[in-house]
Amino acid sequence: MHKIIIDTDPGIDDAQAIAFAIAHPEIELLGLSTVFGNADIDTTSQNALTLLEIFARPDIPVVRGASKPLVQQRLPAPDFVHGVDGLGNLNLAKPAIELADENAADFIVRMANEQPGEITVVAVGPLTNIALAVGQDPNLPSKLKQLIVMGGTVQQAGNVSPLAEANFLCDPHAADIVCAHDWPLKIIGLDVTLKVMLRDDHLASLRDSAGQTGKFIWDSSRFYVDFYTADQNQAGVENPVRQCAMHDASAVVCVVEEGAFEFISGGARVVSDGIAIGQLALNRKANSGIEYAVPHWQNRPLVHAAMQVDTERVRNTFLKTLMQHALS
Ligand code: RIB
Ligand code: CA
Repeated sequence: MHKIIIDTDPGIDDAQAIAFAIAHPEIELLGLSTVFGNADIDTTSQNALTLLEIFARPDIPVVRGASKPLVQQRLPAPDFVHGVDGLGNLNLAKPAIELADENAADFIVRMANEQPGEITVVAVGPLTNIALAVGQDPNLPSKLKQLIVMGGTVQQAGNVSPLAEANFLCDPHAADIVCAHDWPLKIIGLDVTLKVMLRDDHLASLRDSAGQTGKFIWDSSRFYVDFYTADQNQAGVENPVRQCAMHDASAVVCVVEEGAFEFISGGARVVSDGIAIGQLALNRKANSGIEYAVPHWQNRPLVHAAMQVDTERVRNTFLKTLMQHALS
């Protein structure tokens, strides 16, 4: 059984990731910690509670996290991607369940100390909570089983700038702090998540065969697929495919299907100022005996960045799990 905590900014694709974690028989979702990103912290926290009600798991604790980045100003929420409400403008009723009386960093540190070596944290939003948690307990990396991050991009173009992916750009200082610590850290970035697309026929199969959860994933994905379609139209694509990237769920699938990904390892920095802000800069010559003249990557532990993915295996794991284990 894989015990996981998802640190999340729900978020339409975050919702898909959370549904998968709850549905998969080998995953025990211990809690959700919320962070700003796709919407403000009040909205992402309320959305996390709403999702657990929709997915029939009101027992799972939700702990509220950071409302803004460590250093820079919070960027405007991408309401053109996830809607003003963060869930595709479905304007759902307020949840009846409430947040747990603990903040995200305290929760992550407490759980890691109570169950050392057992828990995987899957971070699918800005890394502010993770940076705060390791600031509270510098031994956190040795107490987690592993940290899996949806974020960054090594070779694929960025989605918020030519060089930067959204989660890393939302809090580059936090991402750079996280990369300075010696977890086991896997980075599931745009290099692989943009190869795992959910087309409308995939999403319709969930709508028709995954209960209320499937219907929610279909309904909330309409706004998200419209964004991706408009993006293709803007790029001059003649017959745009109605689809969306399975960013966050790909990171959770990695918990149970690590072999579907191929990784490269290196020392990682995340640029925190200038026009390249948010860029993940990997030193692939780390541990090769070659030392660069500049000191910026010295003493950086290895991170493992996914560069290849078995798209069908990851996508089918996601779809089949939700259809075979309909939540509600
Ligand atoms: O770049 C994609 C990431 O940014 C995903 O986690 C999505 O939910 C947004 O947070
Ligand atoms: Ca997210």
